[in-house]
Amino acid sequence: MADTDLIIRPAELKDVKDIMALEQGSIAHPWIKSEIEKLITDDNKICLAGELKGEVVCYVGADMVLDECSIGNIVTRKDHRGEGLASMLWAELLRLLKEKGMAKVFLEVESDNVPAIALYEKSGFTGYGLRRDYYGQGRDAVLMLKDI
Ligand SMILES: CC(C)(COP(=O)(O)OP(=O)(O)OC[C@H]1O[C@@H](n2cnc3c(N)ncnc32)[C@H](O)[C@@H]1OP(=O)(O)O)[C@@H](O)C(=O)NCCC(=O)NCCS
Repeated sequence: MADTDLIIRPAELKDVKDIMALEQGSIAHPWIKSEIEKLITDDNKICLAGELKGEVVCYVGADMVLDECSIGNIVTRKDHRGEGLASMLWAELLRLLKEKGMAKVFLEVESDNVPAIALYEKSGFTGYGLRRDYYGQGRDAVLMLKDI
């Protein structure tokens, strides 16, 4: 797949159904409809959709407070994983966050989520802590941070 095939754009309310479908089965506690709608419409949040041939195949959401940003979820549809889509979406998100004056980006990720941790480390995020049982009994969160 050529880099240019993926169209990255701000998510719109018409994408809510597709984003919910992306979350189902990929995220332990998927966001409900109203949370995704807020992610799309709230000026202090940012939500990007990645489109291939007219279909939303990946998305990322983040929350901004002053000059700090906290990442919500990033998901690539199962049949398009490993094609570099999340990397492109992630790079665009970080570029936009910097443009919006963000200085620090925080995230938490389940400690056994190898692909996601690899994605974050590849773009310079480093771990700064562990939150025990954050996702349920025996399921820890790694806390990661990057200065942008
Ligand atoms: C994490 C996720 C978004 C990555 O999406 P993707 O589009 O497949 O990612 P990319 O193809 O851009 O790969 C990005 C990097 O992730 C890593 N990666 C991707 N798949 C991997 C795998 N199966 N094993 C190990 N590392 C992997 C690699 O470092 C890769 O970079 P590289 O190809 O330059 O080595 C995807 O696996 C996903 O949707 N997972 C379920 C949802 C989730 O857990 N999201 C993160 C927490 S919210």
